[in-house]
Amino acid sequence: MKTYLVTGAAGFIGANFIKYLLKRYDNIRIVVLDALTYAGNLGTIADDIDNDRCIFVRGDIGDRSLADELFARYKFDYVVNFAAESHVDRSIENPQLFLQTNILGTQNLLDAARRSWVTGHDETGYPLWRNGVRFHQVSTDEVYGSLGAEGYFTEHTPLCPHSPYSASKTSADLFVMAYRDTYHMPVSITRCSNNYGPYHFPEKLIPLIIKNILEGKSLPVYGDGSNVRDWLYVEDHCKAIDLVISQGRAGEVYNVGGHNEKTNLEIVRLTIATIHRLMESHPEYRKVLKKQVITPDGDIDISWINDSLITFVKDRLGHDQRYAIDPTKIHNELGWVPETTFEVGIVKTIEWYLNHQDWVEEVTSGEYQKYYDRMYGNR
Ligand code: NAD
Ligand code: DAU
Repeated sequence: MKTYLVTGAAGFIGANFIKYLLKRYDNIRIVVLDALTYAGNLGTIADDIDNDRCIFVRGDIGDRSLADELFARYKFDYVVNFAAESHVDRSIENPQLFLQTNILGTQNLLDAARRSWVTGHDETGYPLWRNGVRFHQVSTDEVYGSLGAEGYFTEHTPLCPHSPYSASKTSADLFVMAYRDTYHMPVSITRCSNNYGPYHFPEKLIPLIIKNILEGKSLPVYGDGSNVRDWLYVEDHCKAIDLVISQGRAGEVYNVGGHNEKTNLEIVRLTIATIHRLMESHPEYRKVLKKQVITPDGDIDISWINDSLITFVKDRLGHDQRYAIDPTKIHNELGWVPETTFEVGIVKTIEWYLNHQDWVEEVTSGEYQKYYDRMYGNR
């Protein structure tokens, strides 16, 4: 039986990852370590925690004694490090928190793993590692910086981050590689493009747009909306990480992305059109609308769900123009292909939000409104 330490699994991708693992494998044990910041929500994984196959520990990845205690108690085979401050706009507001969690927190986990997993040293002084262990770092395509109209990020693209968020993720990657080179630690890194899907916190573009449409609010598009992101359904990312941990070569970086580039304006327009279409074909979904206008026929009006909701707002500082992943390596070595097309994934995602408004209310009941007002004013 393999035991995983999965950090940050009360957040978006980590939660989807443990749900995926628990469904796929019977003979595993997962320990979740999560500080439950504004982005972490225990309710998201409450049904998965059973104190047998899946154990929850609230704590900071930067806490040395807690990390040592967990490694000693559970004898982890794998560490999968999702825990991070993940939002670019917040990193522009408060960079230091990103250094603490994303860099120092990652380095703390690397050290705890080293203290626990090293079994001795070879004649040249390099550590010997317990068989089968792996430290997996969940990284991002943002470490490569920004592309022009042409080309893709490969694993050989020079690291060139621009935001405090991406600079902190790049530093973490460099530490992971430093532990590989200095201590021969068995590590791997995945660098994925933008994810979307269930449990995505509504500060990020797609869930924010869905939430605002349902509330009849305007849809803030930064700059002229021409920035391009390469969107991947979250479950395809989870499958990629699982493959890299179990079959990927130690010491390697794998880029993950589905060749699904879209401008932000396209994403917003598609989301508007999809919600409108779903509400036309399934009138019961209209009840979810917070803005209820009744037509003379007594129906809930949806004619206002159109592109006029879009508002162009001040651009993000240092806004990267385009991200696009070349996934050839993970495809050729591990046979990974994205299985969910954007057309299918966006409908699944929107339907999930329409059916889980209680989750949206739970995660946005605290600090969220203050953040929203600070970021977007009273739009
Ligand atoms: P998220 O913000 O939804 O979740 C982050 C989780 O980490 C939360 O549960 C939070 O409570 C926890 N956390 C934060 N600080 C912590 C700390 N100090 N100790 C313990 N837990 C802490 O993030 P996400 O979107 O799920 O991203 C997960 C990882 O994937 C991040 O490392 C991110 O850089 C990376 N990533 C995200 C995307 C994306 O599109 N969202 C794409 C590529 C890579
Ligand atoms: O590329 C992977 C990265 O994707 C991850 O490493 C990050 O953790 C994740 O947050 C995401 O970063 P982005 O900055 O690309 O995602 P976000 O959803 O914040 O923004 C997507 C695009 O939409 C970006 O160009 C900014 C724009 N945007 C975003 C918001 C929140 C808007 O135009 N309006 C908005 O209100």
